[in-house]
Parts: sequence; structure tokens; C-alpha cells
Amino acid sequence: MREVAIVGAGMTRFGELWQSSLRDMFAEAALAALEQTGEARLDAIYIGNMAAGGFVKQEHIGPLLAGEIGMSGVPAVRVESACASGGAALRTAFFEVASGASDLVLAAGVEKMTDGADVTDVLAMAADQETEAYNGITFPGLYAMIARAHMERHGTTEEELAQVAVKNHVHGALNPNAQFRRKITAEQVMGSALVAAPLRMLHCSPVSDGAAAVLLCPLDRAKEFTDRPVKILASGMATAAMALADREDPAFLGAVQQSAQRAYDMAGLGPGDIQVAEVHDCFSIAEICCTEALGLVENGRGGEAARNGYTSLGGRVPVNTSGGLKSKGHPVGATGIAQAIEICEQLRGTAGERQVPDAKIGLCQNMGGSGASSVVHILGRA
Ligand code: COA
Repeated sequence: MREVAIVGAGMTRFGELWQSSLRDMFAEAALAALEQTGEARLDAIYIGNMAAGGFVKQEHIGPLLAGEIGMSGVPAVRVESACASGGAALRTAFFEVASGASDLVLAAGVEKMTDGADVTDVLAMAADQETEAYNGITFPGLYAMIARAHMERHGTTEEELAQVAVKNHVHGALNPNAQFRRKITAEQVMGSALVAAPLRMLHCSPVSDGAAAVLLCPLDRAKEFTDRPVKILASGMATAAMALADREDPAFLGAVQQSAQRAYDMAGLGPGDIQVAEVHDCFSIAEICCTEALGLVENGRGGEAARNGYTSLGGRVPVNTSGGLKSKGHPVGATGIAQAIEICEQLRGTAGERQVPDAKIGLCQNMGGSGASSVVHILGRA
């Protein structure tokens, strides 16, 4: 396999973008990522998108969005893996370049969630229809059950759950692309409206619009496009039982652990080498479970890590320096690509006030459903 680099990146601000359609947002992000390529034609486009059919009644978005950026004729396809669609698009593009089949590939993600659809209902299509959605369960409900299991097994407290949100809002306040740029307190989190006990509104990622895109090419061509390429050191993916009830331990995300192990093996690295990470905090309990399954913190101690600063900017391994899904926003199909962009900024040294000093190796982890899919990428300064 060839070595692969990210040589361009672009994203919209995340939030309720009333003025922008799905195609507007995609074009803004994609054209920003392609700024350095001049007239070059892409070899392929992969677009992470969970549910344009459900949210805006638009299927077949590959050719639509390729045309939007003047690339009609280029192979273009939507990649779907629920909220891990962006990560899956990046993985598909990575292997296409690594294999030698293509040189210039765009991996993008986009989601328009605020266009009037019943968001909770559309999102629930990514749960097991026969055993979960049929019985009325929603994603906040599924993660609430994961939280209860974690609290029972490991003694995690409501205050620790709140500290994840507090930390990510501190980070997000420093990110100009974040949906919420305000700090919150643990008291505000614990006093916010109950959504699905024990999860409250401020434990949840919001409903968001947004798009993100990165341009990939073989590492040996990277200098044609940028003097600061970022190398993709590894890509790992795994799946687990779709229904929460079919998992041995609902408080442990096995697909996250397996996808990480595959990525660590491919890169020849371990959790101790990771200096900064973006992980899938769609609900505060998810960050706790993911940091544990990734091996970044000891099993059962994810909540404590958020409380004592271990995962904050300035801590041993800063997690979600972008603000994470909680504060930056979570336009589901775009999230995996935006995570990679944050890690690129950290490795290029362009993260501004969010910069982790001298970061050379970073990880991003993107998850689908209640943990049935997980994609991990490890990036390194080239
Ligand atoms: N965090 C912080 N603030 C939030 C927020 C969140 N998650 N969600 C909404 N708000 C704010 C809004 O900005 C708004 O503020 P304003 O009054 O200053 O304008 C206010 O709270 C009310 O917003 P509204 O849109 O009416 O909230 P809601 O009750 O309809 O939705 C949730 C709140 C938590 C239910 C919704 O954000 C949600 O469903 N989140 C989960 C999304 C999800 O499941 N994603 C997939 C994960 S797998």
C-alpha cells in the first residue's frame, strides 16, 4: 500500500444554518478543501451522509454534489454508516489512494438536519427497527441506558457526566466553527431539562447543519499541494451487535475497542502514543465509554478523567479540543470529517488557542448508532 496524506481541508461553521442548503454547505466545504489544487480533476468523491433522504428528501447525492462543485463525470458516491458516515467516507478514500487506484480523492461529509423533519425519528432509523425503534426507543434513550449501566458498574456519577459537557464547552468556546461558543457549569448541566434520565439537555449533542471535506493524495505528491501535509498512519473499523440488549456489557463499547486495536496495530502504535484525540461524544456518557475503549483512560475511569483535567486542554491527553460533538455541533454525516480536520489543525500547529503544544500524533474516532459501528483513524505530522 502507498502512504497517504491529507493535503487540503475545509468546513462550514456548524449550527442552525438557516440560509444554507445541503448543496450550499457541501460546496463551501469542498471548494475550501480544493483551494490548493488549481484546475486538477478529482479521481473520486466520497460523501459521508447519514440520512439526506429522511432530513431533506434527497437521495442520490453523489452526482448532485459532484455537479455542484463542477466535477460532473467524476465517480461520486454517498457513504452511509449512521453517525460514523464521515469516518467511513474517509476510510474509503484512504484505501482508494493507498491501493494506487486513485491519486486525488475528496472525502467529505454533510448533513442538513434543521429543515423541518422529525429529527429524533429520522435518527432512530439507525437503531434496530424490530427490537428497539418499534418499541419507541430513541438515541437519547439508548445512551441513557448505557449511562445507567456505567453508573451501576463503575460508580460513575451525574457530576462526572456533567463534567464532560463542561470541558467540551470550554474547548468549543475557543473554536470559531463551533455551534455553541459559551462555557457552562456543572450546575447548569445538572439543572437542565431532563431528556432521558439520567441524561439532560446539556449532556446531549445538538441538532446541527454543516459540512466538512478533506483532500487526500499519495504522500509522495503531497508537496505539490501543501507544505504541511498530514499523514494518515492507520484506519481501523469494527462493528458490534446492533441492539444494545444483544451486547454482553452495555457499558463497554466493543466495536470502539476493536476498531482502535486494528488502527493501533496498523500504525505500530499504542494508546500511550496519542497526544490529542477527537472522540464521539454524541452524549456525555459516550465520551466516557469511548475514551475507555480506546485505551486512553483506564476502564471505568472516563468520568474521573473529565473531572480531574486528564482529558482537558493542558491535561495528559486532551480529548475533543474542537468542543466535540457537544459544543462544536453534530451534523451527523459531517462529524467524522470534522474530527479529522481538528486533528490536522493540531498536527499542523494551526489550532490557535486550542493548540496542544508540539502535537505529532493524534487520533479520531467516529461512531454509528449506539456503538454498532466505529471507525478510528490515526494521523501523524508528515
Ligand atoms: N446543548 C446546548 N444547548 C442546546 C442543545 C444542546 N444539545 N439543544 C438545544 N439547545 C439550546 C438551543 O440553542 C436553544 O437555545 P435558545 O433558546 O437560546 O435559542 C434552546 O436550547 C432550545 O432549543 P430547542 O431546539 O428547542 O431544544 P429541543 O428541546 O428541541 O432539543 C435536544 C434539545 C437535546 C432534545 C436535541 O438537541 C437533541 O435531540 N439532541 C440529540 C441529537 C441526537 O440524538 N443526535 C444523534 C446522536 S446518536
